[in-house]
Amino acid sequence: MTRLQGKTALITGAATGIGFAVAARFAREGARVLIGDRDADATAAAVARIGDAARAAVLDISDEQSVAAAFADARAAGWTPDVVVANAGVQLFGQDAPIADLDLAVWQRTVDVNLTGTFLTIKHAVRAMRDTGGSIIVTGSPTGITGEGRAFTAYSATKAGIHGLTRTVAAAYADRGIRVNTVVPAYTETSLVTTITEDPEARAAIIGRIPDGGMSTL
Ligand SMILES: NC(=O)c1ccc[n+]([C@@H]2O[C@H](COP(=O)([O-])OP(=O)(O)OC[C@H]3O[C@@H](n4cnc5c(N)ncnc54)[C@H](O)[C@@H]3O)[C@@H](O)[C@H]2O)c1
Repeated sequence: MTRLQGKTALITGAATGIGFAVAARFAREGARVLIGDRDADATAAAVARIGDAARAAVLDISDEQSVAAAFADARAAGWTPDVVVANAGVQLFGQDAPIADLDLAVWQRTVDVNLTGTFLTIKHAVRAMRDTGGSIIVTGSPTGITGEGRAFTAYSATKAGIHGLTRTVAAAYADRGIRVNTVVPAYTETSLVTTITEDPEARAAIIGRIPDGGMSTL
């Protein structure tokens, strides 16, 4: 199928994991895809795997100049995105913790990427789309809805913030033809969750909480 023929999509965190799977699928659907990631080597490898339909957009979503430069670069190349997937995120396993034991620095590093970085990505996506309309898709998490990640205070709080941010931006720009939605992936075995994947007890517990007992696969 080619449901995205003629579209250009910027996907952040697309060098690996869920973001790469989205980029590869979008390309199969006919889109041109900008691989937005802070890891330049992994971005180059992802572009090579997808081929001519892909272009690198190396950026750090927590740095506004870097995000603005990536959008300017895309525009200059004739690759202004119609679709932006704000997907990049971090989960600081071993550092994120129940609140009484959570260091301020860990909280701030998580907020800088997951919440501020998503804010900056959406802000510049809206600027790119406000005269033409478009679609913004944001990667949320069950932890931001259910509170199930008891040891992941910072991560869960940033994901809850993302869900609220998405609704607010969706309402604010609906009349400009910009759609803004959050997707909530279930547990997916990527490099983000290696700590869970390598711990049989933790893995069984998290899969056990998924109603149909199945996890997402890439
Ligand atoms: N894996 C899961 O079970 C799961 C479940 C729910 C939600 N999520 C969310 O899905 C998204 C993707 O996660 P994943 O599991 O594919 O992780 P991943 O670690 O495989 O990929 C994350 C990518 O984001 C990039 N990245 C990190 N910080 C960045 C920054 N500041 N600027 C630009 N790029 C940056 C990394 O280089 C990496 O390529 C995240 O937002 C995560 O919170 C994951």
